[in-house]
Amino acid sequence: MKKIPYGRQTILEEDIEAVVKVLRSDFLTQGPEVTAFEQMVAEYHGARYAVAFSNGTAALHAAYHALGVVEGDEIITSPMTFAATANGAVYCGARPVFADIDAATNCICIEQISGLVNEKTKVISPIAFAGYTVDLKAIREIADEKGCSVLYDAAHAIGSKRDGTFGMEYVDAAIFSFHPVKHIAAGEGGMVVTNREDVYKKLLLFRTHGITKDPQLLEKSDGGWYYEMQSLGYNFRITEMQCALAISQFRRLEDNLRRRNQIASIYEEELKNTDSIGLPPSVGYQILTEDSASVRDLHAYHLYTITAQNGEKRKQLYEYLHENGIMAQVHYVPVHLHPFYRDRFGYSAGDCPVAEDFYARELSIPMYHGMSEEDQEYIIDVLKKF
Ligand SMILES: Cc1ncc(COP(=O)(O)O)c(C=O)c1O
Repeated sequence: MKKIPYGRQTILEEDIEAVVKVLRSDFLTQGPEVTAFEQMVAEYHGARYAVAFSNGTAALHAAYHALGVVEGDEIITSPMTFAATANGAVYCGARPVFADIDAATNCICIEQISGLVNEKTKVISPIAFAGYTVDLKAIREIADEKGCSVLYDAAHAIGSKRDGTFGMEYVDAAIFSFHPVKHIAAGEGGMVVTNREDVYKKLLLFRTHGITKDPQLLEKSDGGWYYEMQSLGYNFRITEMQCALAISQFRRLEDNLRRRNQIASIYEEELKNTDSIGLPPSVGYQILTEDSASVRDLHAYHLYTITAQNGEKRKQLYEYLHENGIMAQVHYVPVHLHPFYRDRFGYSAGDCPVAEDFYARELSIPMYHGMSEEDQEYIIDVLKKF
């Protein structure tokens, strides 16, 4: 039986050629493709600086570090995310504090944030869950009032917009992931975008062992070969091949977003009268038809998340879809419920009831821009039969 994944990359001949070209060039890492990719992504999102990383998790780790998160700090995030959003802060020695989600958006509940901020809180880290853009303006207001930074996990939301903007004016930094289920598939890859020069400089050092050769930063000069390790960093670099692949795909981002929006509108139309299936929030969102410049609110639709009436029904639906070759997935096990978070930080079931209820009933059905019309019809048929 044919298997339809919940998400997958589309690789065209032009992508393969772009990678092969790099293989014949002088640089496999730290070359012109990395810089070009950083510039493209920064420009598209209205950011002054961009630093590419080996993956989105490394980008998060670097961003928390660059925003000054250290041992003893706290950050506030959503439990309805991939563990990496919180892990990045744990790597820096911080305690992640979870605000519950808002059932209307499946993103962080903004009303809860203020009550969780204390003198240890350094960063608020919202996530655009599934590609639904969270209200960054409202979060910025809280952050300014409380003296915190905002780190936007936009791993699901490349190219998205709310009120006509991606939101760089409201955040200290944002991150992307280029894992194959995301819009831009580099194999592995990540990026931080920021408007803050101080953050940018720290990101550059962190990506490559804390080492610099920049004459303006060196404490002394011994000669052309000289470099200094000024802080503790990592090897979090991305390769030229990954960036060439990412650039080639980034050129098709608008097509990608358009197709995902089209798939979402077909699901919505076909499933809206199916009592037993809840649809994802799309209120206030416009369907992208032409070019994204004309659209003020743009859902990136990394995932298409439906909900069953209860946990038992979700399990039955998951199994029925898999028996029929539809590889639906659950996003996500709430982060605070993982054994590591329970044991290290003392979290337990009941801490975030809205997220826990969503987790119990959620299923992500296939959503990727290369999905054929026939495959989507088949998925809808199977769902209706269930
Ligand atoms: C919301 C979110 N943040 C961060 C990441 C981490 O990205 P990566 O897999 O590139 O390390 C992911 C990836 O699954 C994600 O979905």
